[in-house]
Amino acid sequence: MHITPPLLLAGALCALGLGLAAPARAAVAGRADAGSDVYDSECAECHSLHAGKNKKGPSLAAVTGRTAGTVPGYKYSDALAHSGIVWTPEKLAAYIAAPKKVVPGGKMKYDDGGDLTAQDIADLLAFLKGAH
Ligand code: HEC
Repeated sequence: MHITPPLLLAGALCALGLGLAAPARAAVAGRADAGSDVYDSECAECHSLHAGKNKKGPSLAAVTGRTAGTVPGYKYSDALAHSGIVWTPEKLAAYIAAPKKVVPGGKMKYDDGGDLTAQDIADLLAFLKGAH
């Protein structure tokens, strides 16, 4: 059988393309211990991880999977209280990166999310998942 060089080249490029695309699609694995440091420097000023302890922001105990605006005793903005958001890891990542975009009219004053790396965010989310 005879394969022409252009076809061979196309096949090689295709294999290369698949090989390169795979790692880019894979999610960054989060490390909860490193996430604890991210939390301490970025979030702890305004958020406690103890259930029932609200600071400038509401407690983030067991935040992963819960409906937004539902911590008892915390006075939320109307925007967040009525957002209907459920805090999946994806929603949390989007909110941390741009709180005012995800909840226009919300009152979380946090603008540093853009400085966090994908690894920082994955670590933070892994840490929050374990925070009950
Ligand atoms: C300067 C204070 C401040 C910082 C820093 C801050 N937050 Fe907040 N956060 C708030 C406030 C205030 C609210 C309430 C927003 C509202 O009612 O609109 C809030 C709300 C939230 C909520 C919604 C909780 C719920 O019960 O629905 C999440 C999730 C959250 N913050 C995560 C984070 C994370 C994670 C970080 C760190 C990366 C962080 N915040 C940093 C002040 C802060």
